[in-house]
Amino acid sequence: MPTVPQLLASAAAASPSADNSQPFHYQWDGRHLSLRYDHDRVGGKTFAPGDPATLLSAGCAIENILQLGDGIGISPLSWRLPEKGFDEGDYGYADLPSLDELGSGFDKVAHPLFDRHTNRFPFRKQRIPEPLKEWITAEREEAASTCVIDTADGIREAATLVRRASEIRFQTREAHEWLARSLRFPPADDARGDGLDVRTLALPPGGAWFLRNVSDWRRMAFLNRFGVYRALAITDAGPVARAPALVAITSPPSDRQIIAAGRLLVRIWTRLNSEGIGVHPYYVISDQLVRLDQGRMPEHLVDRARMLEQRASRAFPGGGGGERIRMLLRIGYPTRKPPRSRRLPLELVFTDRPAERPER
Ligand SMILES: Cc1cc2nc3c(=O)[nH]c(=O)nc-3n(C[C@H](O)[C@H](O)[C@H](O)COP(=O)(O)O)c2cc1C
Repeated sequence: MPTVPQLLASAAAASPSADNSQPFHYQWDGRHLSLRYDHDRVGGKTFAPGDPATLLSAGCAIENILQLGDGIGISPLSWRLPEKGFDEGDYGYADLPSLDELGSGFDKVAHPLFDRHTNRFPFRKQRIPEPLKEWITAEREEAASTCVIDTADGIREAATLVRRASEIRFQTREAHEWLARSLRFPPADDARGDGLDVRTLALPPGGAWFLRNVSDWRRMAFLNRFGVYRALAITDAGPVARAPALVAITSPPSDRQIIAAGRLLVRIWTRLNSEGIGVHPYYVISDQLVRLDQGRMPEHLVDRARMLEQRASRAFPGGGGGERIRMLLRIGYPTRKPPRSRRLPLELVFTDRPAERPER
């Protein structure tokens, strides 16, 4: 029978992460369940510990821990974020009662967060019910907020921005190489437990073969001379243009508010999935804006990224000054049940190491 810390860690492990990189390690020390970046496993292979993409994922993991705590009746659990910032990869901990107080008795726990998943396949045209749209719009976490976009103009503009951002992305070596490294091709890669299984990507016929072939940046750079990045960006943005609705999640720029945006993201995503609505996140706009901020945008793309920034701040203004889009979600009723992406074994991402206790 799993212990409560194991259950909470499995809830965190079920949370989404960029390219399914699962960059965290969870540790139980007898009193605290903590969340850290797994430098040894993912360092240098995905977003850095303090990068907004990692902070969003950390927010998702934290929210899942708190939601499951609530679900199994050990609330109010609260999460303590460290004061010192997140560049070293410490995202804080939840204080739990001792194992003796917690007891066991949870054989198998069902919670909607274990059914949350990404759906990159087409959605039906059917509209999202008004009460659900109202719930999404009202949902907040600290200063992070949401906005439902379902007018023809709003959707068209969002799709244009996804296309522009994707054009930049497909010309950026680092983004390309990270994606290439995270792709998993069945059946050879089935045992890996992380990364992006190409079966989840809703690729057209020959798509997996194409992706494997352009994994080498030199080949991609060569094809880009003939404008291949434009064709790929059109393919990326097409489903956004056809979506019945989109959700933009925005937050102010502080690290803590980006973690709050992650909490909001997974809360909305889990609820929508539990109502039978598919969710497909697009990070591409946010990613280009972050790269621009961090001075990691290739020189020849800086002007385009600045234009993207201006248009994005008009399209996704958020609730106050200085807010920025953190994630765009394409939402709608699914046309098919997507394959589910895998997870690493819990033993690899969770350590149960109680602190030394004095002998009684
Ligand atoms: C910060 C972040 C960025 C993501 N960006 C994208 C994206 O741009 N496109 C996409 O299809 N999925 C994106 N995802 C979804 C992940 O790829 C997905 O959560 C992961 O593969 C695990 O799959 P699951 O959501 O089905 O559990 C993102 C998730 C997070 C947390």
